[in-house]
Amino acid sequence: MKKSYQRLRGTLDFYPPESDLIQEIVGKARNLFNTFGYQEVILPILEREEIFTKSVGKTSDIVGEKQMFRVEGKDIVLRPEGTAGMVRSFIENALYTKKDFYKFFYIGPMFRGERPQKGRLRQFHHIGCEAFGSNSPYLDVEVIKLALSILQECGIKGIKLKVNSLGCQQDKANLTNFLKKELISYRSKLCPLCQRRLTTNPLRVLDCKEESCRKVVSHLDISDRFLCKECLCHFNEVLSLLKELEIDFLYQPTLVRGLDYYTNTVFELVHKQLGSQDACGAGGRYNDLVKNLGGPSIPAIGFALGLERMLLLLKKPDLTSKVLVFVAYTSLNVYPQAYKLLNTLRKNKVSSDISYKEKSLKSQLRSAEKAGANFVIIVGDEEIKRGHLIVRDMKKSCQRTVECSRILDFFLS
Ligand code: HAM
Repeated sequence: MKKSYQRLRGTLDFYPPESDLIQEIVGKARNLFNTFGYQEVILPILEREEIFTKSVGKTSDIVGEKQMFRVEGKDIVLRPEGTAGMVRSFIENALYTKKDFYKFFYIGPMFRGERPQKGRLRQFHHIGCEAFGSNSPYLDVEVIKLALSILQECGIKGIKLKVNSLGCQQDKANLTNFLKKELISYRSKLCPLCQRRLTTNPLRVLDCKEESCRKVVSHLDISDRFLCKECLCHFNEVLSLLKELEIDFLYQPTLVRGLDYYTNTVFELVHKQLGSQDACGAGGRYNDLVKNLGGPSIPAIGFALGLERMLLLLKKPDLTSKVLVFVAYTSLNVYPQAYKLLNTLRKNKVSSDISYKEKSLKSQLRSAEKAGANFVIIVGDEEIKRGHLIVRDMKKSCQRTVECSRILDFFLS
């Protein structure tokens, strides 16, 4: 027996109707991004590893837990997320010298060597956006509203919005110091990963999903008391704007996100149907990242939705073909005419197909049915001599004769 190959763990093959559904989601997202004034960028999948260690952070799961796929022998990785590459490109192209405000979106594959499970893949797709040049709380709310609108437009219901503010770097440092002091007495009660996080990144203990860690965290008084006056004011404005727009949210002071670059507003869009990997999308501000990667100090904010997690929340569509017309022939003598007709239909944007295998008419009709065709045009030996074609309505199970010269009108009118 010949060896057969299987797809890699944590990767997916998409066939119709799922691949059609993906195109539909992407189309809806693109339209909404345009409506909100965001422009598409297409950036490399390969990036230098350093941009992620410097942005996502050495203690993040992506970098710290060695989840990046490296090109052997090189300091190059398959991008695990889109923000760092976007910032690299923003700085490299000195976009800030041309305009003081930019809004971009991107749709593409990301790669993370995580342990695969439901909703957690090694290759997945982000539908994301990034806005550069403003610290306005109105922009924070625009970005949140945009993410929610995409999910809603795709027919996903039951999404919950969780928000928090991490404050500026100084606020983050104050909270980190507080956690270091408070958590040390609970050390033995934390999971092994959080015991390590105590020294590397205590903030991450706050959103650990382990029951034992959650219990410890529930004893802590964190709330917004670590935010400085300016950051608290910014966050309060975000919350009151959300209320004004009647966007329901849950303020969750333990929401810290797994990527180090965040400052101020952070948010997650969760759905309980997704189980333990419940975030369908997430984002936040990263006001220091442009500077940290070598650019000027420019505030920014964005989000990314996980396409595969969106698919998990959508009902599997029925298998419906997009082929409208199937061209059939009664004998090989008229195959050239049938083939010519097929090309005329296609030239006029009528979706159509033909059998490339020699088949009886009965068998061609069965193929047409399987393809979900609404009509079959039968090119008959006798009819064609009289300049006629037979058009069979597959849904109504009836047929009529149409003159060859009028066949296009029949489908275009
Ligand atoms: P993230 O939370 O790491 O954020 O990813 C965003 C979304 O991608 C998640 O909410 C989830 O739906 C999906 N996702 C993440 N990892 C996986 C995986 N292994 N398998 C399947 N889906 C996954 C970011 O990446 C940030 N760059 C978002 C952002 C943009 N923040 C500001 N701008």
